[in-house]
Amino acid sequence: MLRAENITAGYGSRTILEDISFEIADGERFIVLGESGCGKSTLMKAIIGLNPPTEGKIFFKDEEIVHPLPEESDFYKKIGILYQSSALLNSLSLEENVMLPIIMHYPDFNTSIARDMALEKLAMVNLYAHRDKFPQELSGGMKKRGALARALVMDPDIIFFDEPQAGLDPVTARDLDVLFIKLNEQLKTTYFIVTHELLSIRRTAQKVLMLADKKVLFYGTFEEAMKSDVFKVKRFFNVDKYSK
Ligand SMILES: Nc1ncnc2c1ncn2[C@@H]1O[C@H](COP(=O)(O)OP(=O)(O)OP(=O)(O)O)[C@@H](O)[C@H]1O
Ligand SMILES: [Mg+2]
Repeated sequence: MLRAENITAGYGSRTILEDISFEIADGERFIVLGESGCGKSTLMKAIIGLNPPTEGKIFFKDEEIVHPLPEESDFYKKIGILYQSSALLNSLSLEENVMLPIIMHYPDFNTSIARDMALEKLAMVNLYAHRDKFPQELSGGMKKRGALARALVMDPDIIFFDEPQAGLDPVTARDLDVLFIKLNEQLKTTYFIVTHELLSIRRTAQKVLMLADKKVLFYGTFEEAMKSDVFKVKRFFNVDKYSK
């Protein structure tokens, strides 16, 4: 689905990530983890082109993606993005928010079909009954689910999530994980998830990429990560045992 080769990224003259390579298989739940400030969001921004890499190559379904891509590029029609803040527009109802990607990418699209597509996704995330509400009338968890419906609305091949669990209580966070897994299995959508929530990683991770000191500290399956002898990996998963 996605392959990154020797990615270097940063801000101005400051390098944050160096020589990052990985591959994400079709339908895989791929987790990027690491301590705060290690560059997880920077990696996501480099891949989607918000802050393009200065070196390296990105392949999406074996086709090279060279940023900056024009906004109307097919790449943006085939990916979904869920930002940490949910980023729903306050002036639009939930239903209109979910329709937004369709209307933005296909201005001539039949509105009633777009509405049906939005309602179908709102039903999937259990928000159909709240479709006419505005974002300020929704709880944090509902906003996250609404943003998920919006990310799903064009049936993307891959969804990029930045800290989807941030700010949620453990019960809501678990419900969201269960929903992620259900939709991943149902729709076969590939997930690129940035997170440092241990419980969430345990539930959802299939492959993990751990970043530290600008580099890849660990890349492999979740089971391999659990057995890793690398100190920082062990400490991340068992912080009380390995911290002084
Ligand atoms: N827009 C920006 N301009 C300049 N520096 C930035 C910018 N965004 C992030 N940085 C710097 O890049 C480094 C990595 O930040 P990044 O947001 O990628 O970390 P992160 O791993 O996502 O952290 P967190 O878990 O706290 O979200 C940090 O040192 C940060 O200060
Ligand atoms: Mg971040």
